[in-house]
Amino acid sequence: MSDYDLIIQNGTVATAADVFQADIGIKDGKIVQIGQSLSGAARAIDASGKYVLPGGIDSHVHISQPSGEGIEMADDFESGTLSAVFGGNTTIMPFCLQEKGKSLREVLAAYHALAEGQCYTDVSFHLIISDPSDAVLGQELPALVADGYPSLKVFMTYENLRLDDAQILKTLDVARRTGATVMVHCENEDAIRFLIEKHELAGDVAPRAHASTRPVAVEREATHRALTLAEIVDVPIVIVHVSNGEAMEEIARARTRGVKVVGETCPQYLTLTAKDLDGMDWEGAKLVCSPPPRDEEAQKECWRGIETGAFELFSSDHCPFRYDDQHGKLNPKGRTNFRHIPNGIPGVETRLPILFSQGFMTGRIDLPRFVALTSTNHAKTYGLYPQKGTIAVGADADIAIWDPAIERTIRHADLHDGADYSPYEGINITGWPITTIVAGKPVVENGVLVGTKGDGQYRKAAARQINKHSNLTRVTS
Ligand code: URP
Ligand code: ZN
Ligand code: ZN
Ligand code: ZN
Repeated sequence: MSDYDLIIQNGTVATAADVFQADIGIKDGKIVQIGQSLSGAARAIDASGKYVLPGGIDSHVHISQPSGEGIEMADDFESGTLSAVFGGNTTIMPFCLQEKGKSLREVLAAYHALAEGQCYTDVSFHLIISDPSDAVLGQELPALVADGYPSLKVFMTYENLRLDDAQILKTLDVARRTGATVMVHCENEDAIRFLIEKHELAGDVAPRAHASTRPVAVEREATHRALTLAEIVDVPIVIVHVSNGEAMEEIARARTRGVKVVGETCPQYLTLTAKDLDGMDWEGAKLVCSPPPRDEEAQKECWRGIETGAFELFSSDHCPFRYDDQHGKLNPKGRTNFRHIPNGIPGVETRLPILFSQGFMTGRIDLPRFVALTSTNHAKTYGLYPQKGTIAVGADADIAIWDPAIERTIRHADLHDGADYSPYEGINITGWPITTIVAGKPVVENGVLVGTKGDGQYRKAAARQINKHSNLTRVTS
């Protein structure tokens, strides 16, 4: 019997706290030793000249989510997790969307059935609550939080999903009592409706109008309101996909009032602008997502939030639709009016390389901050820590080995998702994850798929500890 199933040798290891030279010994899917000159393994991977990092955790991913009107997402759990694992991720957290009238258990069962046996990475779900009835908030949700499903998202926009303030308050109150974590999509739906009507009357219906009808003020106001509702209930909150400095300032202001808030931003807000929605022949539809990309100034502000710690989470908001497809961006209605272009863009495979290249390799952030933003803070925020999100004895052996010498240009043809384009086409990248190990098993090795679907498992999460009352303090059992 070997001491270890696998040793990763000679690499530069980084966690959210430290960078050090060490070997990592793995047995039965767990890290069992971190030390010098380890031996006695069934096999070894040489990581000389490479970085050995906790596998990425992407806590904001949409897969197989129904969008109505004949629209289909481009990824199922097989293609979505395949793309994720090639991008250095070992866990993704997709959403289970509650359609109105459905019970949460029914919704979870349906997504579990879709994911079962299909995944290359580990998976842990969030719920989307669109129908917060008394039965849902009074009984179902508390039971599910206790049963390992402690995070949920609510929307302030989208006609069929939005909750009003009273519903959000009630949901936050359940979160306070149960230790659930609430993510909020902050955009003012009434203001958006008002602007859409004006644009339609003026015949301004091309993709660029998507950004014009969702201006910064719409996001800033809703962000302020969500933070105020959390303040009133006295419960931590996550503000997802923050796109600009004004919404970020609302988060900073709320923190000075004592609101416990975790802020998230995404690659699109660092790399794209609203002008990119102007593309020829409706090509701007490729970049329609909400909130929309802003301008260069907003990009700078988002970078500032990444550098200073205003944002704790960097997620992809992977929400893939095919472009040239009647079920995707260019559906029969979407090709004539921006309002019918499904919102969302792919990016689960490119999230980590973009931040590694433009954040770490340029010196904007150090390696521990890269790890915190892409892995550790996701595990802490959503109850997967310390099993996941770090390199420590006893943690799951979820590891990405990065080659900082690789120079690549992002081309959709090289990616593994089910969409037919990448919003990041043509961006030059320095550094890429070459080997991804999920629970001790290499799934991608030297850029080649060596694992099989089903290697990834479902992972339950732990609720916040109420007595600690901190958004980043949890103990998983
Ligand atoms: O446009 C986006 N972001 N679509 C995905 C759903 C969401 O709001 O996160
Ligand atoms: Zn959202
Ligand atoms: Zn999203
Ligand atoms: Zn199709």
